[in-house]
Amino acid sequence: MTEWMPNTWRDYPVHHLPQYANQERLHAVEKELRKSPPLVFAEEALQLKKSLAKVANGQAFLLQGGDCAESFADFSANNIRDMFRILLQMAVVLMFGSGMPVVKIGRMAGQYAKPRSSETETKNGITLPSYKGDNINGIEFSEQSRQPNPDRMMQAYHHASATLNLLRAFAQGGFADLNKVQEWNLGFVQDSLQGEIYQRFARRISATLAFMKACGIKSETVPLVRETSFYTSHEALLLPFEEALTRVDLSTGDWYDCSAHFLWIGERTRDPKGAHIEFCRGINNPIGVKIGPNTKVDDILRLCEVLNPLNEAGRLTFITRMGPVKIFDVLPPLLRAVEREGLKIVWTCDPMHANTQTTSTGLKTRDFDAILSEVQAFFDIHKAEGTFAGGLHFELTGKNVTECVGGTVKITEEELAEHYDTLCDPRLNATQSLELAFLVAEILKKNS
Ligand code: PEP
Ligand code: CO
Repeated sequence: MTEWMPNTWRDYPVHHLPQYANQERLHAVEKELRKSPPLVFAEEALQLKKSLAKVANGQAFLLQGGDCAESFADFSANNIRDMFRILLQMAVVLMFGSGMPVVKIGRMAGQYAKPRSSETETKNGITLPSYKGDNINGIEFSEQSRQPNPDRMMQAYHHASATLNLLRAFAQGGFADLNKVQEWNLGFVQDSLQGEIYQRFARRISATLAFMKACGIKSETVPLVRETSFYTSHEALLLPFEEALTRVDLSTGDWYDCSAHFLWIGERTRDPKGAHIEFCRGINNPIGVKIGPNTKVDDILRLCEVLNPLNEAGRLTFITRMGPVKIFDVLPPLLRAVEREGLKIVWTCDPMHANTQTTSTGLKTRDFDAILSEVQAFFDIHKAEGTFAGGLHFELTGKNVTECVGGTVKITEEELAEHYDTLCDPRLNATQSLELAFLVAEILKKNS
């Protein structure tokens, strides 16, 4: 392997990066980011890697979720709280189902850059560059807004910083105290069937906590009851931004991308000879790679060699997104190859990205049943192969949106336009997310 530095990716073929018209401004922003404080601390990324090592060894479960694309316009304390809260609710349900700790990672505090299948978008005969996430350009359909603007990187940095600040406060400041498990039920969720099921479930946890308190295990004295660990992640797409936030950890001399705890590489940018893999191989954060339906055994073996040459458990997560049918052909040979080579991998399932369809009215949606089928297939395949189905990766929101069809809330195609707020891909709403968590908890219980 050649020597790695945060900027060696610049010598490799790169896709999905914007062309900035104003290079001088780009360099000024990069310089400013380089001297800005890191968003996360290397030791935190290392802690997450240790937790993911437990997942790789079948001793913990991973829940990763959040918006497809976070937006500056939707940035508010309430939105951050709602997202944190639904992930917390899901995690506690999954913890109960699996009897294992659940590692929680938000697609939050930095999920601002998107690869797009088309470079351009045409509306009413006008063609403009596609929207690529608030870190790159604006969603508004105008010539000016769609131009990549380097100043957005500074805005992304500050939005991520404020989001992280609140997430840390929620995780450690009392909001995540297990004694509040009943209070996490959101207003509109509470009135749904899932809300009722959750309320019953929360009462059982409260009863258990009361018993534990009588035994002397209480939140005042045991931080594990009062606090939780919550990590941030985003797709490492916009490499100038990631490079500028990459720092050396003085105690070890290792490099970390301090823009988030966990970074992943998308399905479209995971070429082992490309710039995105080159960048990620040198940072010591835990790394994910999206694995689509065309993945071959050689692809994943090469990815393991480049991204995890020391075969460190927790370093590498494969996020499969293959679709509920293709997964049966594609995943088993990959699992067998990884087992045969003795490679330590976290396997997690993203049942969203191979299940996107466009309705007759032109809205992108996903069917709850297709999502559930892919999740069920993922667990069945791992069970048959004797490997560990380590986690789930969802696009979801704590809000009452109508973007995915189905679920017991029975959202129909006709109802999609009512609360269709996503900037990019359709997300599960809070009740659909909770319903999935209960269904997965059942699968986990059966498998244990
Ligand atoms: C995403 O996670 O939003 C995404 C673009 O995924 P993928 O790379 O798997 O298509
Ligand atoms: Co998406």
